[in-house]
Amino acid sequence: MESFAQLVKTRRSMRKFTDELLSSDDVATLLKAALMAPSSKGKHAWHFIVIDDEQLLQALSACKTVGSDFLAGAPLAVAVVGDPQESDVWIEDASVATTILLYQAEDLGLGACWIQLRNRFAADGTPAADVARRLLGIPPHLEPLALVALGHKGMERKPFNEERLLWDKVHLNLFQN
Ligand SMILES: Cc1cc2nc3c(=O)[nH]c(=O)nc-3n(C[C@H](O)[C@H](O)[C@H](O)COP(=O)(O)O)c2cc1C
Repeated sequence: MESFAQLVKTRRSMRKFTDELLSSDDVATLLKAALMAPSSKGKHAWHFIVIDDEQLLQALSACKTVGSDFLAGAPLAVAVVGDPQESDVWIEDASVATTILLYQAEDLGLGACWIQLRNRFAADGTPAADVARRLLGIPPHLEPLALVALGHKGMERKPFNEERLLWDKVHLNLFQN
């Protein structure tokens, strides 16, 4: 990484991967980053499930009607699972950790994409989180938030165009309509 600013500009969601597997070093680096994510009151209200089983990835890819099918072509995924008993802001904790996984992947030159589970549904109406819960054996007191698809990039994506940033969403002192 040249700089964090460059990393932020370059990271784009990747939904196409090569067949190359991730090295165990890269997987360890990704997990270390997630485990160092900031969390409210330092409660670490999350768990991470590493998934490298092809059949599991295939089954998980059908957890939603849209936005998850490409998981079948990924060599690895990390399920981010929140713990509401540990923290009332588990969604924030788990979301921060998920975000950090995305940036750590980019820093390793890998591709990644967030696949939302919470509040999303499979074709038969089953909550996507319940599909993941069943397939991954997640206990009932925990809440699956997202899957992060990971792999070596299978296509090029353009970095952000700074000329198209939404500066009208930034306000100084007072919200301006
Ligand atoms: C909360 C959240 C949920 C997302 N869910 C999905 C998803 O289920 N499937 C998917 O393909 N992309 C998903 N994404 C990725 C977004 O579609 C993507 O970040 C957005 O289109 C901007 O593109 P970029 O990441 O390439 O900048 C999600 C991103 C976030 C932050």
